[in-house]
Amino acid sequence: MNDAIKPGPEIPMQAAGLPQLSVIVPTFNERDNVTVLYRRLQATLTGIPWEVVFVDDNSPDGTWEVVRGLARRDSRVRCIRRIGRRGLSGACIEGILASSAPYAAVIDADLQHDETQLPAMVALLASGEVELVVGSRYIEGGSADSFNKQRAGASALATEVARRVLRVEIKDPMSGFFMIRRDRFEQLAPQLSTQGFKILLDIVATAHGELRTVEIPYAFGARQHGESKLDSMVALDFLGLVLAKLTNDIISLRFILFGMVGATGLVVHLATLFVALEWFNAPFPEAQAAGALVAMTSNFILNNFLTYRDQRLKGFAILRGLLLFYLVCSVGLFANVGVAFSVYDSEPIWWLAGAAGALMGVVWNYAMSGLFVWRKR
Ligand code: GDD
Ligand code: MN
Repeated sequence: MNDAIKPGPEIPMQAAGLPQLSVIVPTFNERDNVTVLYRRLQATLTGIPWEVVFVDDNSPDGTWEVVRGLARRDSRVRCIRRIGRRGLSGACIEGILASSAPYAAVIDADLQHDETQLPAMVALLASGEVELVVGSRYIEGGSADSFNKQRAGASALATEVARRVLRVEIKDPMSGFFMIRRDRFEQLAPQLSTQGFKILLDIVATAHGELRTVEIPYAFGARQHGESKLDSMVALDFLGLVLAKLTNDIISLRFILFGMVGATGLVVHLATLFVALEWFNAPFPEAQAAGALVAMTSNFILNNFLTYRDQRLKGFAILRGLLLFYLVCSVGLFANVGVAFSVYDSEPIWWLAGAAGALMGVVWNYAMSGLFVWRKR
C-alpha cells in the first residue's frame, strides 16, 4: 500500500501533497467578499497545505458563480452549492464533512474574522495537546469594537446563559471562528443541530467538556461588503439550542419551535372563538370550527416562517402544504382526543388527561408535518 493512502493521523501530509487544513466558508450573498478572502488565505497560509470549501446556499447574488470561477483556476478551491436549504450551522457541518483534511477551520466570508490567526491555530492543533482552537473576542487581546451596543449586549447575555445553563467554560462560545480536529468533529457531527447560527456553542456543549480547547484572541472587524444575515430569529434559535442541549437532545430545536407556534395557535383559536361568538353571534359549533381553521392556518404560516425557515415552502407549494397541514392536524385531533379519553378512563384527573391528549396531538402533528408537509427534498 502506498504511504499516501494509508489511513490514520500519522500520514505525512506535506509529503502526500494533501491538504492539512480545510478552511470552511459559509456564504450567503457574499459575492464581493469571496475573492478578497481567497487572496488573503493564499497570502497567509504559505507554509501549510490547504484547501478552501465555500458552502453557498444558492445565493441570489451568484456568490457560487464567483467561487466556481476561482475553483477553475485553483484546485484548492471548492464550492458546495446547496439548493432549497438555508442555515449557517448546517452549511458549516456539510463543509467540514466534505473534507478529508485532519484540521478544519470555520471562518466567515465577510472578512470580519482574522485569517492571519490560522497558522497559529494549526500549530496548536499540530502540537497534539489541543483538539479545538477558538478565535475569541472576549479574552485579553481580543475585541469586538465593530459591534453596536445592542449586539454587544445580546452577545454578552447569550455567553452568560451558555456559561450558567450549559456549563460552557470558554469565554467566547458564540464565536463563528474556530479550528477543530476533523476526527473529533466527525464523532460529534450526528448530534449537532443543522439549524441556527451557533455551531461552536453546539460543538462545545455536545462534547460535554471532553474537547481539549484553547482560545486565542482576535479582533472582530467590520464587514467589508454586503450585510449581516443575523436577525432577531437568531435569539429564538439560540434558546432552542440551549433547551435541546439541556434535555440531552431529547427535545430538538425544531420541536421546541413547533411547540411554541402551537401555543400561539391556542391564543389565536380562543381569540377567533371570542370574535365569532361575541361580534358575529355565530352558533358555538361554527365558531369553534372557525377558531380551529384560523389557528391551523396561522400555525402553518408561522411554522413556514420560523420552524421550517431553512426549507420554507414557496409559491404553489404553500397551498399544497397548507392543505396537507390541515389534514395532518385533523388526524392529530383524533389522536389527541383518543389519548385524553383513555387516560381519563383509567385516571379521572381532567388536567392530566387533557395535557396527555394535547402532548399526543403536538407530537403527532410534529412528526407528520416533518414527514409530509415540510419533508426534506
Ligand atoms: N451558507 C450559508 N447559509 N451561509 C450563511 C447563512 C446561510 O443561511 N447565513 C449567514 N451565512 C454566512 C455569511 O455569508 C457569512 O459568511 C457568515 O455566514 C456569517 O454571517 P453574518 O451574517 O456576517 O453574521 P454576523 O457577522 O452577524 O455574525 C457572525 O460572527 C459572529 C461573531 O463571530 C457569525 O459567525 C456569528 O455566529 C458569530 O457569533
Ligand atoms: Mn459578519
